[in-house]
Amino acid sequence: MEERKGTVTNAQETRHLVQTDGRVMTASRTNALATPLGILGGGQLGRMTIQAASALGIDVVVGDGKPRSPAGRLAQGEVIFTGGWDDDAAIHDIASRAPTITLENEFVDAGVLEKLEAAGATVLPSPDCVRTVQDKLKQKTAMQRAGIPTPQFRQVHTPDDLPRIANDLGWPCVLKARRDGYDGYGNRKLDADDDPVAACESLGWPERELFVEQFVPFSCELAVIVVRGRDGETISYPVVETQQDPELQICRVVIAPADIPAGLAQDVEQIARGAVESVDGTGTFGVELFLLEDGQVLVNELAPRPHNSGHYTIEGCVTSQFENHVRAVLGLPLGSPSLREGAAVMVNLLGHGGEMPDAEQYRSALSVPGIHLHNYGKDQSRPGRKMGHITACGNSPNDALQRASTAAERIRM
Ligand SMILES: Nc1ncnc2c1ncn2[C@@H]1O[C@H](COP(=O)(O)OP(=O)(O)OP(=O)(O)O)[C@@H](O)[C@H]1O
Ligand SMILES: [Mg+2]
Repeated sequence: MEERKGTVTNAQETRHLVQTDGRVMTASRTNALATPLGILGGGQLGRMTIQAASALGIDVVVGDGKPRSPAGRLAQGEVIFTGGWDDDAAIHDIASRAPTITLENEFVDAGVLEKLEAAGATVLPSPDCVRTVQDKLKQKTAMQRAGIPTPQFRQVHTPDDLPRIANDLGWPCVLKARRDGYDGYGNRKLDADDDPVAACESLGWPERELFVEQFVPFSCELAVIVVRGRDGETISYPVVETQQDPELQICRVVIAPADIPAGLAQDVEQIARGAVESVDGTGTFGVELFLLEDGQVLVNELAPRPHNSGHYTIEGCVTSQFENHVRAVLGLPLGSPSLREGAAVMVNLLGHGGEMPDAEQYRSALSVPGIHLHNYGKDQSRPGRKMGHITACGNSPNDALQRASTAAERIRM
């Protein structure tokens, strides 16, 4: 049967809407999905969000500082922020093309997000939420006010504050930059015999503001992906264990589900949902937590976007964190976060700073049964850079871990 198409015009494009029975659909703009979706940031998180959006037939416009970023290469449109995120022409360009804009990193200043809203776009998570989350001190204060357990922390005004604060919190402690930290860059452990001025300067003080928190002697690190819809509906994925590389302080392995008692897992999910509610988040959030020997759970930090600890959800869960992010910010119903099988394990492919893998390495890694290889398409490898990941699903975490690790060892990025 010949398809009969109706058209709905929005600011930028003409949409063809066809009902399943072939009749012309007379949709009004208010009924149409507010697409294309805008994503600020062109990294792998944006790329995987586009892959999920694409399956739903949703176009994406990516904003990034450079053309042909990992996400930009898959997007239907690119807006280049040549003058940095505060590039007014780019702000107006993307706001005029994308009625809804989200982000894939927390480094875009909330003031820029407010400009996007002033230019007519809806930004989710909201600028207020991002303003709180992108400053780790504000973030922890918001969580503490809401009764969410966190490590103890204090603001640092000058290095002279450190000995008094550390005596209060106990040595050692962890000095952190309030903003723009990632993969452990922006943190340093502080011992009693460290020089406070040198320690602060090593993190960019006085240009950069700092805070300090107690060192938590955790038995393991946990994470939960939480998704909150526009209407406040909140779902959480299974609690996972994240294992960091001891030297690089970067996540290497994620094991789903974490090997903890069911009652504790329920408590952890509840704390994680509460943490996202405390900052009034919308969309997918990664919540990182510490589990202590005595069973106590403390929230380390939140990320207002899909998170590395949730990459396993692409193949491991009924609905991925990326698809649910798209659904959440566009006001669509959220999908089930349940595991499809008993377990899923993800191993990060961290850069070694050399050549990209050759065909033989691909062949060798892909010959491991049931593994899923993701190459983010970054043009340059740097030591410790997240270049890709491998996921394996199975009945038991051990089986999945073994296959994912074997494949990861066979491919160097
Ligand atoms: N207070 C603490 N006590 C003990 N270890 C800590 C503490 N804070 C951070 N760490 C360790 O350092 C790692 C990185 O810290 P954090 O999450 O604050 O940094 P980040 O740069 O934002 O990290 P990422 O981008 O990897 O999430 C944590 O996963 C944990 O292993
Ligand atoms: Mg972290």
